[in-house]
Amino acid sequence: MGGKILLANIDVPGIRGYDVYRSNGGYTSVEKALREMTQAQVTAEVNKSGLRGRGGAGFPTGLKWSFLDRKSDKPRYLVCNADESEPGTFKDRYLMHHLPHRLIEGLIISSFALGVKTCYIYIRGEFKYLVGILEKAIKEAHLHGFLGERILGTDFSLNIYVHPGAGAYICGEETALLESLEGKRGNPRIKPPFPAFKGLYGCPTVVNNVETLAAVGPIISMGGEAYAMIGKGKSTGTKLISACGNIKNPGVYEIEMGLPVEDFIYSPEYCGGIANDKYLKAVIPGGSSVPILPADLILSTAKGEKRLMTYESLADGDFESGTMLGSGGFIVYDEDACIVRNTWNLTRFYRHESCGQCSPCREGTGWMEKVLYRIEHRQGKMSDIDLLVRVAKNIEGNTICPLGDAAAWPVASAIRHFRVEFEEHVLHPAAMLEKERHLKLKY
Ligand SMILES: Cc1cc2nc3c(=O)[nH]c(=O)nc-3n(C[C@H](O)[C@H](O)[C@H](O)COP(=O)(O)O)c2cc1C
Ligand code: SF4
Repeated sequence: MGGKILLANIDVPGIRGYDVYRSNGGYTSVEKALREMTQAQVTAEVNKSGLRGRGGAGFPTGLKWSFLDRKSDKPRYLVCNADESEPGTFKDRYLMHHLPHRLIEGLIISSFALGVKTCYIYIRGEFKYLVGILEKAIKEAHLHGFLGERILGTDFSLNIYVHPGAGAYICGEETALLESLEGKRGNPRIKPPFPAFKGLYGCPTVVNNVETLAAVGPIISMGGEAYAMIGKGKSTGTKLISACGNIKNPGVYEIEMGLPVEDFIYSPEYCGGIANDKYLKAVIPGGSSVPILPADLILSTAKGEKRLMTYESLADGDFESGTMLGSGGFIVYDEDACIVRNTWNLTRFYRHESCGQCSPCREGTGWMEKVLYRIEHRQGKMSDIDLLVRVAKNIEGNTICPLGDAAAWPVASAIRHFRVEFEEHVLHPAAMLEKERHLKLKY
C-alpha cells in the first residue's frame, strides 16, 4: 500500500552522506522553496497537505505554525523534538540514523517558512551515536551552501545546533524541553503562555517532532494537495510505525495512513503475524501512554468496522473501546503475555519519570506502582483493583502536563479490558505464578 516518502531511498548504499543523498534528489525541495516560493506559500502547502504532528498529539502542523507570534521583535526559534523516550517508540532515531539529511532539509524549509534564523535539535541523551551523524550532516549542508549565511544566494540565513539532553523522558514534553535547552531542570511549564508566544528564552518558538519536520521536504516537492491525497480523511500522508513485542518482524515501517490494523499485524510486508504463530491478545498502538486494546477491539471498532491505522479510526469509541495513534509505537502482546505484569512495568516507568511538580502525578504514580506490585506479587486484595481505577481517575486531567494522563491511561484501560486477569492474580496467585514459571522455562 503506497510507496515510501519519508524513507525513500533508504536502501541506497551511502544515502546517509551528502553526495549520495544529493544525487538521489536531495535538497531539491530546499532549492524549490527558497528560489521559487515565499514564506507564506510554503506554509500554505503545509496547510494544504493536512500534515499533523507526529510527536503524539496529531495537532495540525500548518495551524501550529500560524500561531507563531510574528509581530514580536524578538528572535524566533524552531526546535526539533528528537527526545523520543516513549517506551515502544523508536522511529525518529531510525530516520535520523539512516536519513539525517531528510531531517536537515525539512528543518531548512520549515525555518524559512517561519522566519527563523536559529534552529535546535534537542536529542535524547542516550542517542549519543546520533549526535555525530547529525553534526556531520549539518557540516556537509554548510559546505554545500544549504546552511549558514545567505543560503543559495538569498536573504535567508540559518544555523542548526544539536543539543543532547540528559536522558529524562519528561524532557520530550515541549515546555520541559525548552527549560532543559535553557540549561534548567526539565520541569514542564504552566500554559498559557504557549511556546508560540513565549518559548525558548521567552521568544516565539515552534516545537515539532522529527518525523513531522522530515515530512516537510517531500510535501514541498510533491505539493500539499498531492500529499493530502495519500492516506484517509484527516489522517493524510504516511506514518512511521515502530513495531515491537510478540511479532515475527519487529522494526520500523512507513505505512500509508488508512492501512487496516489487521493487515499491519499479519501481512509479511509488515509485522508478519504473531511470533510462534500464537494468538493475538492485545495491542498498545501508539506508544506506552495510549490505552491498550484487546484483540477484538484493535482489529475492529465496537461498531464492527475494520479498525484502520488513522487518528480517527483508532480513537473510535473514545476511551471505552478506542485508543490513539499517538507516536506510532505499536506494541503487540500474544496470548501468554501477562497484562498485570506489563501494567506494573509501565507504571514503574512513569513513577520514575514523573518530575514531581504536581501531587496527583507524583503521589499517584507511586501509589499505582505499589498497588500493582502487590497484585503481581501475590499480596493483592480485590479492593485494590477499584483502588487503582480511583487513583488513575484522580490523576487524569489534574496535572500540569500530560504525563499524568499518560501514566493513568495504561492502568485504567488494562483494568477496563482485562479485569478478570487482575482478579485471577488476586484469587489464584499460586496458579498465576506457576503459569509464569512454566512460560519462562519454555522460552
Ligand atoms: C511526557 C511527554 C513526553 C513527550 N515526548 C515527546 C518526544 O519524545 N518527542 C516528541 O516529538 N514529542 C513528545 N511529546 C509531545 C511534545 O510535547 C510536543 O507535543 C511535540 O513535540 C510537538 O510536535 P508535533 O506537533 O510535530 O507532534 C511528549 C509529550 C509528553 C507529555
Ligand atoms: S504531570 Fe507529572 S511530569 Fe507533568 S508536571 Fe506534573 S508531576 Fe511533572
